[in-house]
Amino acid sequence: MRRAIVVRDALGPLNPLIPVFTGAGFNKPVEVESPEALVALVSEVGADLVVLSLATTSNHVLDELQGMLRDRANLAAIGTAPTPDSELILAGFRRGLSEFLVVPAGPNELAGALARLESKWARAPKGGHVTAVYSPAGGAGVTTVAVNMAHALARRKPAGRVAVADLVVGLGDVTTHLNLAPTYDLGELVRKLDRADGESLHSITESVADGMDALAGTSDLELGEEVTAEAVQRILALMRASYSYTVLDVEHTVSPRTIAALDAADRIVMVFQVTVAGLRKVKRALTLFEQLEFPAEKVLLVANRVGAGDVMSWPDVAKALGRSVDFRLPNAFQGVADAQTRGIPIAANDNAPGMKALIDAYNLLAIRIMGQRGTVPSSIEEPESSRTGTTAGFGRLLGKLRK
Ligand SMILES: Nc1ncnc2c1ncn2[C@@H]1O[C@H](COP(=O)(O)OP(=O)(O)O)[C@@H](O)[C@H]1O
Ligand SMILES: [Mg+2]
Repeated sequence: MRRAIVVRDALGPLNPLIPVFTGAGFNKPVEVESPEALVALVSEVGADLVVLSLATTSNHVLDELQGMLRDRANLAAIGTAPTPDSELILAGFRRGLSEFLVVPAGPNELAGALARLESKWARAPKGGHVTAVYSPAGGAGVTTVAVNMAHALARRKPAGRVAVADLVVGLGDVTTHLNLAPTYDLGELVRKLDRADGESLHSITESVADGMDALAGTSDLELGEEVTAEAVQRILALMRASYSYTVLDVEHTVSPRTIAALDAADRIVMVFQVTVAGLRKVKRALTLFEQLEFPAEKVLLVANRVGAGDVMSWPDVAKALGRSVDFRLPNAFQGVADAQTRGIPIAANDNAPGMKALIDAYNLLAIRIMGQRGTVPSSIEEPESSRTGTTAGFGRLLGKLRK
């Protein structure tokens, strides 16, 4: 179902138009009081279509909308006005709006606009968003962040399901954090990767709670060897086709499969604790990402366990890293440990005291992930001719490291 958000009165009376929306595959449109409320709701829950009056919307809100239309291939906007004022229409198109309607809009005019938009949606890239949670140091909280961020995403009820996938070979922790004893895991998926499709993926993942699935890591070291860079690329393509959001628990070892996961992800959430050693490693990882030519905005810096004896002020942290920290997850040792002992996400442990700040912080992180569709992942494919063995496509990335 597509989601439309309409500013009150932007189309005229909405009731007679509801059948046009539902006939074109939309939910009953959500009505908001103001253009400001409209952009706030889009960044919070997402939308396929927004309708607003060009005559009464401030330039500031139109600027924000322009940014959203640029970042989200699936979002379209219809502008309206009481008369077909050509200057207003042109200004709207320049900002990326797709259609213009005179108010009050008739059912036929609206149906025509929705039909034309259909081709825009058909061209939009399909597939879900992938976030790689990574830390250059062990024990910083990667598994905790991956599990709880995926759960926060699932609880916001996006269209489609959410998965947390454990790419750690050997001692992956997603199953312990979620108290799962899965029949199948990543090893099984890798074993049948040639034939795997959405259905086999579904049979290998476990359904956890609130629309979240988990793909367990493999402890089979022999199969683990088959988790190559190329296998990771294929797995992520499968995940994208089945899940609207995939969150990866990535190993901290810098191996070809780690680099493949980081490269293929739309976003990297880099988790660290504010210690001298931790910051040094983050700095080195940022340099590595630069060499790999990952766009700077692909990386979100997330400080974990903030308040547990921080050794530096935030300005000093920013100075040491050469950029500021994007998110701070507060320390909440007892509540986190308690949830992990019970094998549930922290937000599912509703009787735990003192967890609100951390749960809120995870929600903000989820909103940030949903709000921006991320960067277009660079392809790590190379021309057929330069392929060698299982690490095909790696020449390009590794070549960058040698530069
Ligand atoms: N916000 C937090 N507050 C307190 N303890 C935390 C928090 N996040 C993670 N931890 C703890 O940190 C430890 C390491 O977390 P884990 O997710 O297993 O790290 P990694 O996967 O990076 O090795 C665990 O004991 C976990 O309970
Ligand atoms: Mg871990």
